[in-house]
This record gives sequence, C-alpha cells and structure tokens, in this order.
Amino acid sequence: MRSPFPPSSLFHVSRLFSIFLFFFSYPTSAQCLDDQKSSLLTLFGSAPTPSWTPRTDCCSWKGVTCDGSTGHVTGLNLANSSINASINSTSLLSLSSLRNLNLSHNSFFDSSIPTSIGALSNLTHLNLSNSGFTGNVPVEISRIKSLESLDLSSSFLRSLSSLRFSSPDFEYVVGNLSGLRELYLDGVDISSPAPEPLVGLANLRSLHLSSCNLTGAFPVEIFQLRNLKALDLSNNPHLTGNLPEFPFGSRLQILSLSSTNFSGGLPSSFGNLRHLQRLELRACNFSGTIPLSLGGISQLLHLDISYNSFSEFCEMECFQIDSGGRSDWGRAKRDTKQHL
Ligand SMILES: *[C@@H]1O[C@H](CO)[C@@H](O)[C@H](O)[C@H]1NC(C)=O
Ligand SMILES: *[C@@H]1O[C@H](CO)[C@@H](O)[C@H](O)[C@H]1NC(C)=O
Ligand SMILES: *[C@@H]1O[C@H](CO)[C@@H](O)[C@H](O)[C@H]1NC(C)=O
Ligand SMILES: *[C@@H]1O[C@H](CO)[C@@H](O)[C@H](O)[C@H]1NC(C)=O
Ligand SMILES: *[C@@H]1O[C@H](CO)[C@@H](O)[C@H](O)[C@H]1NC(C)=O
Ligand SMILES: *[C@@H]1O[C@H](CO)[C@@H](O)[C@H](O)[C@H]1NC(C)=O
Ligand SMILES: *[C@@H]1O[C@H](CO)[C@@H](O)[C@H](O)[C@H]1NC(C)=O
Ligand SMILES: *[C@@H]1O[C@H](CO)[C@@H](O)[C@H](O)[C@H]1NC(C)=O
Ligand SMILES: *[C@@H]1O[C@H](CO)[C@@H](O)[C@H](O)[C@H]1NC(C)=O
Ligand SMILES: *[C@@H]1O[C@H](CO)[C@@H](O)[C@H](O)[C@H]1NC(C)=O
Repeated sequence: MRSPFPPSSLFHVSRLFSIFLFFFSYPTSAQCLDDQKSSLLTLFGSAPTPSWTPRTDCCSWKGVTCDGSTGHVTGLNLANSSINASINSTSLLSLSSLRNLNLSHNSFFDSSIPTSIGALSNLTHLNLSNSGFTGNVPVEISRIKSLESLDLSSSFLRSLSSLRFSSPDFEYVVGNLSGLRELYLDGVDISSPAPEPLVGLANLRSLHLSSCNLTGAFPVEIFQLRNLKALDLSNNPHLTGNLPEFPFGSRLQILSLSSTNFSGGLPSSFGNLRHLQRLELRACNFSGTIPLSLGGISQLLHLDISYNSFSEFCEMECFQIDSGGRSDWGRAKRDTKQHL
C-alpha cells in the first residue's frame, strides 16, 4: 500500500488547511475575554442559568452575544430567566460594549437601577420592563445618547412597581435622548407635566405613558410627529389636552387616551388617520359631534368612545357609509360601547 501523497505533501496540505481554518473561522469564534467573563459571573452574584460555567467560552452562554472580532460582550438577553438578585454596579461598568440589554420579567425587587448604566454609551436597546426595580430612574440614563429603545414599563399593580422619575429627570432624559424610537414607561410614576422636549423626538414611533400620573396640558405637537405609530396616554386622570388637526399622511395606528381629562371636539381631520386600527377615547371629557370622517377609516378594528359628552352619535350616517362597503367600520362599530 502506498499513500497517493508523499508524507511531506500531506503535511503541507494540512498546514494550509489550518491556515485556511484560522482565517475563515476567526471572525465568528472570538473567545470571550477574561475580564468580560468575570464581569458576567459577578453581575448577579450567581450564575443566572446553568450554561454560565466558568470553564466555557462565555460567548456561548445562554443570552450572551459577543462582538465576533473583539470578544467584547455586546448583547445580554436574559428576559424571563427567573433571576432573583440585584445588579453588581461595578461588573456592569466593565460591560461597556453592550448594545442590547434585556433583563425584563425578572425579580430585581428592592434594588434600584444602578447609576453605572449611564456608562454603557453604546447601548441602543434597554429593556428593564416588569423586572421589579424600585426607586428613582437614574438620571444617568440621559447620557446614553445612542439609545433608540427604552422600556421601563410595568404591568404590575402600581403599589408593586415603584419606579419613578424625580423632577426634572424625565425632562432631561427626553431632552437628551433625541434618537429614541420607542419609549415605554407605563406604570412609572412621573407625577409632572409631559415635558415640552418630547416634541423634539422626531424619530419617535411608539410612545407609551399609560398610568404615569402625568398632569397638566399635553403638548399637541406630539400628535403631528411624522413617524408616530402608537400613542398611549391612557389612565392619566389629571392629564388635560385637546386633539389638534391631524396631518395628511399620518402613520398613527394606535391612539389611546382613555381615562384622561382630554376635552373639546374631535377634529374632522380624523379621516387623515388612514392607518388607524385602534381608537380608545373611553371616559374622557370630549364633547360635540362625532365626525363623519371617522367612518371612512377602513383599517379601524377597535373603537371605544364611550363615556364622553358627545351630543349625538353619527349612527345613521355611519351606517350609510358602512353599507357603502366599508365592512371594517361595521366590525369596529359592533365593538363600540354605546354609552356616550
Ligand atoms: C416566562 O417563561 C415561562 C416558562 O418558562 C412562560 O410560561 C411564561 O409565559 C414566560 N413569560 C413571559 C412574560 O414571557
Ligand atoms: C428572592 O430572594 C429573596 C432573598 O434573597 C427571598 O426572600 C425571596 O423569597 C426570593 N424570591 C423568589 C421568588 O425566589
Ligand atoms: C461586584 O463585582 C466585583 C467584580 O466585578 C467584585 O469585586 C465585588 O466584590 C462585587 N460586589 C458584590 C457586592 O458582590
Ligand atoms: C462603541 O461603538 C463604536 C463604534 O462601533 C466602537 O468603535 C467603540 O469601540 C464601542 N465602544 C465600546 C466601549 O465598545
Ligand atoms: C421587552 O421585553 C419583553 C419580553 O420580556 C417584550 O415583551 C417587550 O416587547 C420588550 N420591549 C420592547 C420595547 O421591545
Ligand atoms: C428584549 O428587548 C428587546 C428590545 O429592548 C426586544 O427586541 C427583544 O425581543 C426582547 N427579547 C425577548 C426575549 O423578549
Ligand atoms: C441633559 O441631561 C442633563 C443632566 O443629565 C441636563 O443637565 C441637561 O439639561 C439635559 N439636556 C437637555 C437638552 O435636556
Ligand atoms: C400625582 O401628581 C400630583 C402632582 O404632582 C401629586 O400631587 C399626586 O400626589 C400624584 N398622585 C399619585 C397617585 O402619585
Ligand atoms: C379636568 O379639566 C378641567 C378643566 O378643563 C378641570 O376643571 C377638572 O378639574 C379636571 N379634572 C381632573 C380630574 O383633573
Ligand atoms: C370636564 O371638563 C369640565 C370643564 O371643562 C370640568 O368641569 C369637569 O370636571 C371635567 N370632567 C372630568 C371628569 O374631569
């Protein structure tokens, strides 16, 4: 038996092959850096899942994403991982390459959001929703200029979630984070007027400020933001405001103002909200007549305008529009509560 290749050529081939492997696997197999690994291991006091074992590459751990070339941890997604701990502020500080941090649906009860979060200057997505943090939202969050999505919302009872903004921190956050696309603060105690700089968030797509105890008059310019798709201000009984004329080409899909003190009439330009799917104006202080143009919104699936002071309902006219072929209005109208 004779090998088809002389031994020297075999050696050569395998060496070439390993050089080839080195170049082509390098970008995806960068190992976790030692300092990153030890920061992760001390972040919650103990390992949050069994896959976090000191002897393995931390880039392979559950929920961890690394930069392929540097080995820095860029993503940590531990949503709903039964973590019952507090965050080690020092360890968080050394994870400064993080871009995505999702710790939602865990139990960080009785601990506050560490101020060192403000040092994560590359963070684009921060999600601490329903995670039991208490106390003041650190104003240092306003230093994370790259932030596009911030979710600190809580669907727990108000008494359980006690995150709050001390004045004027909410204004600073909104004033500094001009790149925000999504802002979810439902259930966070703001207890102050909605700040004017909100109007400067030109990229805003989703603004959710339900149950925040907002007071005073809401800046109407928000309704005219070009990119806004969802606006939820519901359950802020001391929040006043009027609906302005809606611009043509509005992208608004969800508008919820239920249980606020919004008043005045509904503008006839409601018909400009071509993409509106959900309209909730239940238990506000609206008056006047219901504009006919509401019947022309073909995407509308859910409509609740009950418990207001409207003088009449456009039943007949709307019904005629309905029989004109817009069946979605009929569907929405079946969903409509009749108490006006
Ligand atoms: C959390 O995970 C459990 C299963 O481990 C699941 O039943 C539950 O729906 C999840 N909750 C959320 C909010 O994702
Ligand atoms: C969380 O930890 C605290 C103390 O460390 C303990 O009292 C509590 O029962 C734990 N909660 C859960 C849901 O495990
Ligand atoms: C926090 O982590 C650092 C290392 O990053 C460690 O030296 C320190 O003891 C930890 N603190 C607590 C309270 O666990
Ligand atoms: C933040 O991102 C920039 C651009 O991608 C990068 O050059 C920089 O090293 C990152 N900073 C950290 C602390 O990773
Ligand atoms: C935050 O994470 C939860 C899952 O735990 C998810 O349901 C929610 O949509 C996320 N928030 C944002 C703004 O993506
Ligand atoms: C975590 O939050 C981010 C947004 O902050 C979201 O895109 C992602 O889907 C969430 N992860 C899970 C598992 O819900
Ligand atoms: C940005 O935040 C700082 C405090 O962190 C504040 O002093 C400053 O006024 C804020 N800028 C704006 C435009 O709100
Ligand atoms: C709501 O805000 C007002 C004005 O800041 C304050 O007086 C009131 O106590 C707050 N209510 C709750 C339930 O926090
Ligand atoms: C609602 O606004 C009116 C003024 O438009 C005011 O008189 C009333 O007290 C407000 N209601 C609440 C609950 O704040
Ligand atoms: C509705 O507005 C009137 C005055 O515009 C005010 O007197 C009344 O208290 C408001 N109703 C509610 C429920 O706030």
